Amino acid sequence: MKTQVCIIGGGPSGLLLSQLLHTRGIDSIVLERKTKQYVLSRIRAGVLEQGLVDLMEQAGCADRLHAEGFVHDGTLISYGQEMFRVDFTEHAGRPVVVYGQTEVTADLYAAREAAGGAIEFEVEDVELHDLDTDAPYVTYRVHGDDRRIDCDFVAGCDGFHGVSRKTIPTKDRKEFEKVYPFGWLGILSETPPVNDELIYANSPSGFALCSMRNDNLSRYYIQVSMYDSPEDWSDAQFWAELKRRLPADQVGNLVTGPSIEKSIAPLRSFVCETMRWHRLFLCGDAAHIVPPTGAKGLNSAASDVHYLFEALCDFYKGGSTARIDAYAQTALARIWKVSRFSWWMSSLLHRFPEQSEFDSRMQIAELEFLRSNRAAQAAMAQNYVGLPY
Ligand code: FAD
Ligand code: DHB
Repeated sequence: MKTQVCIIGGGPSGLLLSQLLHTRGIDSIVLERKTKQYVLSRIRAGVLEQGLVDLMEQAGCADRLHAEGFVHDGTLISYGQEMFRVDFTEHAGRPVVVYGQTEVTADLYAAREAAGGAIEFEVEDVELHDLDTDAPYVTYRVHGDDRRIDCDFVAGCDGFHGVSRKTIPTKDRKEFEKVYPFGWLGILSETPPVNDELIYANSPSGFALCSMRNDNLSRYYIQVSMYDSPEDWSDAQFWAELKRRLPADQVGNLVTGPSIEKSIAPLRSFVCETMRWHRLFLCGDAAHIVPPTGAKGLNSAASDVHYLFEALCDFYKGGSTARIDAYAQTALARIWKVSRFSWWMSSLLHRFPEQSEFDSRMQIAELEFLRSNRAAQAAMAQNYVGLPY
């Protein structure tokens, strides 16, 4: 088989890139290791920046997002019994949209299928070849058949554990990592959200987040030990711990119920600065991971897709390689700022194992400064709604 861009990974990055390229008549094939059902069963991000909403529009996939997404003009931050609000629209001129990654992915699959886009599921043993030549190709096995795709470029959209980044020789790869000593236990429950805006909570027992998917579907997270597994936490224990971490007046509004999903995500900051290696371009989690505090993972995947899409359009329209050559530098300039914001929010809101009384006072002082200072709120709001592309 032959295509212009071979895309490894059928998560949000790979699908969005494929659909955007399609709108400009650029051909791609997506290779996905799992089934579509499996990809759609992963509950992940829930907050979309305007930049991602715009890309979904450009891809012709934003109708359901506009109909069903919830526009949020601000967020609440609590510490102990105190709580304050940061207004996004006032300080940054834009809101965010609450719409699950699962729905984004489902909309993108629907669009690719409607357009007759090529997606191969359940591929195994994907290998990238001759990336440092003008004629790269990808080999893989699907349902026992060995296949080969010749292409102009390979887009590595296969997440943190994918094959693309690992194909870059170690000596050429520049990577940075920080692992946080805790995880997030998340549950989904068919209950009304405790509040109509998100609540990020710093408490002496650790971080908590109250989020949502719709009027009767809530998403809650609590900071847990990195050694815990979801089976260690009954629903009753989860709700008791969440209540301990929220201000009393919010606890009064909390409706509990059985969890319909429960999972633990580790927290990590990771950047592979080698986002381009000859004919391979890394996008999204394949190139970088942020801790989830601040909801930047999916959104920074989208900004990579934007830069790569524009670069490939230039190349196929007029043969210019200027934006292709600048891809890593352009994408990284934003990625490092997003990494800083996610690290800052994580540092502000979690309880660290080695945290001293002094460190806790510093967190409270920073929260009180944020609460009382418009410039600090503006800085947070501008980062939260998304830095410009
Ligand atoms: P992925 O979504 O990881 O997609 C990569 C795809 O590539 C997958 O479908 C995978 O099956 C496929 N793949 C992997 N290897 C291969 C291979 N060798 N061949 C073919 N296909 C392959 N972000 C937030 O903002 N908020 C959150 O609450 C949040 N929660 C998260 C919870 C978890 C458990 C994880 C892992 C991430 C979470 N994130 C969250 C981050 C966010 O979901 C990611 O940033 C986003 O999914 C990145 O999209 P992506 O397409 O780049 O990568
Ligand atoms: C969600 C996840 C986040 O990491 C975040 O900062 C906000 C919301 C969510 O899953 O809804």
